[in-house]
Amino acid sequence: MKILIHDTAEAAEKDTARRLAQAVNKKPDSVLGLATGGTMTRVYEELVALYNQKRVSFSEATTFNLDEYIGLPAEHPCSYHTYMREALFKHIDIPEAATHLPDGMASHPDQAAADYEAAIHAAGGIDLQLLGIGHNGHIGFNEPSSSLQSRTRVKTLTEDTRRANQRYFASFDETPIYAITMGIATIMDARECLLLATGAGKADAVAAMIEGPMSANCPASALQMHQTATILLDSEAASRLANRAYYEYVHPKGDDSVQL
Ligand code: F6R
Repeated sequence: MKILIHDTAEAAEKDTARRLAQAVNKKPDSVLGLATGGTMTRVYEELVALYNQKRVSFSEATTFNLDEYIGLPAEHPCSYHTYMREALFKHIDIPEAATHLPDGMASHPDQAAADYEAAIHAAGGIDLQLLGIGHNGHIGFNEPSSSLQSRTRVKTLTEDTRRANQRYFASFDETPIYAITMGIATIMDARECLLLATGAGKADAVAAMIEGPMSANCPASALQMHQTATILLDSEAASRLANRAYYEYVHPKGDDSVQL
């Protein structure tokens, strides 16, 4: 794992966006794996800014999002389809047909999940996967106890995850219980992973991911087995790392300068 610790969340978010843009500049027809959630909002704002400055184009890129809630139509204000459209897709030059999210309204969700996995394969696999991390160590919606060999499938969300996501819904009862998510093995197949975590609330999960045992109890710890995983942190998210001084010695101030 390459661990880059920035002073501020803003610096970590900008670095994440620039790395994504750099990957697309190097390989314009990149297949990108994308994430949603509060952590990614400013990453997408920065990507849109880079696009507006003509420093990156997505016209040849393809995207696959990690997950989508079951039972929310694409047009629902809280669906991940809506999140992605509003945060990124409508502001950039990516063709709509090149953007993919699981179908949360499929009449056969298990089949929709298998079809999604097949579509990722048919596209040649994911070049760069963007990830956030849940307070409980989840990546995508792979909750603790998820098989580290899992593929895209239906998952039941933990109460903890539903409480964290409740902020987007009118009430806890309206927060979806099920989602279709890429599996951990699906994520591990990506040629490169970029995980961004910011804020003190993520510090325990980050420490378990990087320094804990590899365990289904912290699904993100599977990234210890990925050969090209970069973890971008702000100072608060890094605050529980026992070997922080070593990571900062290797990459002072998260410095690993990205050129666009
Ligand atoms: C979202 C996703 C989740 C989030 C995680 C963190 O597509 O896959 O794993 O990345 O729940 O969410 P925030 O950023 O809202 O704390």
